[in-house]
Amino acid sequence: MPLPKLLITRRVYDSVLDSLSGVFDIQHNQEKDEPLTKPDLMQKLADKDYLLSTVVDRIDEEVLAAAPGLKCIASGAVGTNNIDLKACTDRGIAVTNTPDVLTETTADFAWALLMATARRLTEAEQYLRQGQWKGWSFDQLTGVDVYGSTLGILGMGRIGSAISRRAQGFGMTVLYHNRRPAADEASARYVEKDVLFKESDFVVLVVPYSPQTHHIVAAKELALMKKSACLVNIARGGVVDDKALVQALQSGTIRAAGLDVFEGEPALDPGFLPLSNVVLTPHIASSTRATRGAMMQLAADNLLAHAQGRALLTQVA
Ligand code: GLV
Repeated sequence: MPLPKLLITRRVYDSVLDSLSGVFDIQHNQEKDEPLTKPDLMQKLADKDYLLSTVVDRIDEEVLAAAPGLKCIASGAVGTNNIDLKACTDRGIAVTNTPDVLTETTADFAWALLMATARRLTEAEQYLRQGQWKGWSFDQLTGVDVYGSTLGILGMGRIGSAISRRAQGFGMTVLYHNRRPAADEASARYVEKDVLFKESDFVVLVVPYSPQTHHIVAAKELALMKKSACLVNIARGGVVDDKALVQALQSGTIRAAGLDVFEGEPALDPGFLPLSNVVLTPHIASSTRATRGAMMQLAADNLLAHAQGRALLTQVA
């Protein structure tokens, strides 16, 4: 019997590839690791049974129509906004994602951005590197305190909850807003969205991207925030209206932002680049060697389960 055909859109660790070989006939992208264009993805999927995709592969109705034999998509990400899940279900294609394995790593990174914005870390480092430091002074690069401040979490799921747990060590008051209050969130207080923006010193965005959360942070929300407040986005570009955020950072509506995701990434709104009160990172919140390995392996394990007739581990559609 010929092996089922699998497309892996981007480079994966060798151990992940090894776990799949012998079970699948694999077309991979190990050497170049270039993002596939839509026509390229469609052409490569035409004869495939399985797909291991990433957060940058947009899988819509048109792509699915070009892949008549596709049975299962294992996405190596927790967010699934790049995949038309309903269209997959309509076509009988199973979809899996990678929850849990990235929760703690991603929460760590939200904190890295939060601390960096509070204490002007990247700005201070550039000051040194550029040879501007002529000596110590009392009010040099003053930041804001994290300890004892108020943290607002928009989206209290697994990652939001892990961010909240870390806040206890900083003696913070934690507020959160969700579509519904979370039943088991004893260390954080549920508030309305406007209250979250008004009262928080740090607002961290962890909501999944959807038509409902598109620009959930725009000029109105930024205007509600304290002038001293910082915004951290580890969710998705599109959750924030980046144009409105550039303006808010330029005009001092808010103090600072830490951003790992952008509307239209990898392109950035050019307005961010000259600003010293924004910390910018290239969508790396889950990027530790261990966690990226665990994400890829979970995606691979889902494909193996499907091919071997076992229950999928983390099915979303
Ligand atoms: C990364 O952005 C993910 O959704 O896993």
